[in-house]
Amino acid sequence: MAESARGVGWPRDASKGPASGSRTRPVDGPNGLGWPDGSAESEAADALALVTLGSGFAAWADGDGQVPYRLQRALAAVSRETDAGTVESEDQVATPVVPGSAADTPIARAARAAVVARSGGELWPRPRECRVITIANQKGGVGKTTTAVNLAASLAMHGARVLVVDLDPQGNASTALDIEHHAGIASVYEVLVEGQPLASVVKKVAGFQQLYCAPAAIDLAGAEIELVPMVARESRLARALGGYDASSLDYIFIDCPPSLGLLTVNALVAAPEVLIPIQCEYYALEGLEQLLRTVELVRSHLNPVLTVTTIVLTMYDGRTRLASQVADEVREHFGAAVLGSVIPRSVRVSEAPSYGQSVMTYDPGSSGAQAYLEAARELALRDVQSPVG
Ligand SMILES: Nc1ncnc2c1ncn2[C@@H]1O[C@H](COP(=O)(O)OP(=O)(O)OP(=O)(O)O)[C@@H](O)[C@H]1O
Ligand SMILES: [Mg+2]
Repeated sequence: MAESARGVGWPRDASKGPASGSRTRPVDGPNGLGWPDGSAESEAADALALVTLGSGFAAWADGDGQVPYRLQRALAAVSRETDAGTVESEDQVATPVVPGSAADTPIARAARAAVVARSGGELWPRPRECRVITIANQKGGVGKTTTAVNLAASLAMHGARVLVVDLDPQGNASTALDIEHHAGIASVYEVLVEGQPLASVVKKVAGFQQLYCAPAAIDLAGAEIELVPMVARESRLARALGGYDASSLDYIFIDCPPSLGLLTVNALVAAPEVLIPIQCEYYALEGLEQLLRTVELVRSHLNPVLTVTTIVLTMYDGRTRLASQVADEVREHFGAAVLGSVIPRSVRVSEAPSYGQSVMTYDPGSSGAQAYLEAARELALRDVQSPVG
């Protein structure tokens, strides 16, 4: 690993934005969700888009029959992009070809996205039993949260019942799913430290029929220390998940903080599967050895079924030779565990959390949304028989 990681890349991305929980939200829409352009023209385009897209909203309407506002906005955005024949600036960036994908033009993408958003798309096969997947990488800003949120949203859009457990005190996954997570809100902290049932903190994500989130508040930062003297401190999350009725779920994603502390160890003990997002940047492979060693330790002492089943390449910038070098290195080392779909660096992906959304609803026609959709499809369809780690 260290051997081949040498010489790949340039200094770590300094453009990583602030934690989304600390971002100021853009101008809010009537339902409290922001959107970038509130002009009369765009409102007219929105209305036109909704008329054009017609009656296929039933599958997406909330219990009261209302079309979720964020979906209306997302569909309108698709329509605007298509009508104007414009291409968002990120699309100037060469993105990797997703194997098996049809023509990747903005209009083709928008059309596919609109179909998915209207009907929920094709139903993907659901696992026989709930798959619990820990998303871990102690390196910060590699796309753990973005991957957790967007895979979860994609799967939920295709019929799966999904829970995202936010195990990061930054609460970024909770922010991206628009779940309240300020101090005083019952969160994963109460579950881990005070032994509250997980069900008591799980919230439904608006705009999705079957997407749920167990939020993290900042007090979770203290849990790393508070857990130390506790009995079975490494298996508190496993115990909480064991007491949760997962028969009503198909996937649980656990979003880890950027460390290999007790919170991440709890996540590794609680799940049979590990998904590692790897940023296509300098030093991408450094530190992976340490993560794999931790996985090995947890497997040998605490969780014998733990396996690294999935690697996702994130923030791929096709304009750089470095990105493809990193991708090649990773494929060489991890083989079939690496998803074929590579997530491009995409402005839309980075904008979505500040609107309390996944990119799947914020701009379903964007290259980032399409890549995550494809990645989620692979995850749902793939045979999990080629593990590494
Ligand atoms: N494909 C992408 N294109 C552009 N920006 C991205 C992409 N994926 C993630 N980002 C942005 O990069 C930053 C880091 O992503 P993210 O928060 O998902 O990483 P993380 O590994 O969860 O970080 P942390 O270690 O702090 O928890 C965020 O600002 C996010 O919006
Ligand atoms: Mg994160």
